[in-house]
Amino acid sequence: MPVSQSTVHVINHLDRDYLRQALEADVRTGLTASPKWLPPKWFYDAAGSELFSRITRLPEYYPTRRELAILQARAADLAVACGADTLVELGSGTSEKTVLLLEALAAAGTLRAYTPVDVDAVTLESAARRVAGSFPGLDVRAVCADFERHLALLPRTGRRMVAFLGGTIGNLEPDARGVFLKELRATLRPGDTFLLGADLVKDTGRLVAAYDDAAGVTAAFNRNVLRVINRDLAADFDPEAFAHVAVYDARHDWIEMRLRASRDMRVRVGGLGLIVDFAEGEEMRTEISAKFRPDGLREELVAAGFEVRRRYTDPAGDFTLVLAGA
Ligand code: AVJ
Repeated sequence: MPVSQSTVHVINHLDRDYLRQALEADVRTGLTASPKWLPPKWFYDAAGSELFSRITRLPEYYPTRRELAILQARAADLAVACGADTLVELGSGTSEKTVLLLEALAAAGTLRAYTPVDVDAVTLESAARRVAGSFPGLDVRAVCADFERHLALLPRTGRRMVAFLGGTIGNLEPDARGVFLKELRATLRPGDTFLLGADLVKDTGRLVAAYDDAAGVTAAFNRNVLRVINRDLAADFDPEAFAHVAVYDARHDWIEMRLRASRDMRVRVGGLGLIVDFAEGEEMRTEISAKFRPDGLREELVAAGFEVRRRYTDPAGDFTLVLAGA
């Protein structure tokens, strides 16, 4: 094999039993709670990942474009500032923005390895192969894992930059966010860095539009969680009987997505032996997407033991990237 050949390894920490048990536990907890809720992690089967990919191209959904613009302007600076030979990306999805970081690390002469981490094995593996194809010599070690539970299982070799892009940190509630940041900080060694992308507080109308697009793609993405539960837990949700709702909670600085029952319904979740009743108008929370203020974000990072090295925003002030040291 020529030396320039890339290698791709896929390690799966989410075997069928694990995924099944985690889904069962989350669905049982969420559907028997009052009010009902479901965690956003379960949006992302292959169809959900594809719908999210479409969301990133919607005119109303600005975060991806803003983050991309920051990366285009600053990736070279980031690469030099971090000096990383290994890029670890949490919640990597289709790895579209990652290419900019990898190119900058390659140009800086340090790049050796890339570890995408995602819960969706299908999307993960195809992204890993695509990236390997365009970076000769890159050692790609994809890890199928849940970034909230498996930080300790990520590869520890090399000088790493752990990137958590797209504003996905906003899916965590403040307490869980604090725990996550501390746990991540604990896995970093001297010389390692953390690159965090976060969406910023802005005009409420634009925020809501970004989560309630005119074409209805976000609505389909939201309902997809019901299709996942129907398929994997033998449930009989009628996804079309739930309306997509996106509201901004200004007290918490977060967007909430909900599914609202359009009529009284009795849903059977066969795989759990569970019967769940919905009243007409009842709303079930399916996601929070927290928005940040620059100083608040800095404080959270410092509280978790990070030292903030670089902070960038796009010219419109919509989105921020923060590089923090261990
Ligand atoms: C992938 C979590 C960053 O919160 O903006 C997009 C998910 N939900 N539209 C976000 C999402 C609805 C997205 N993250």
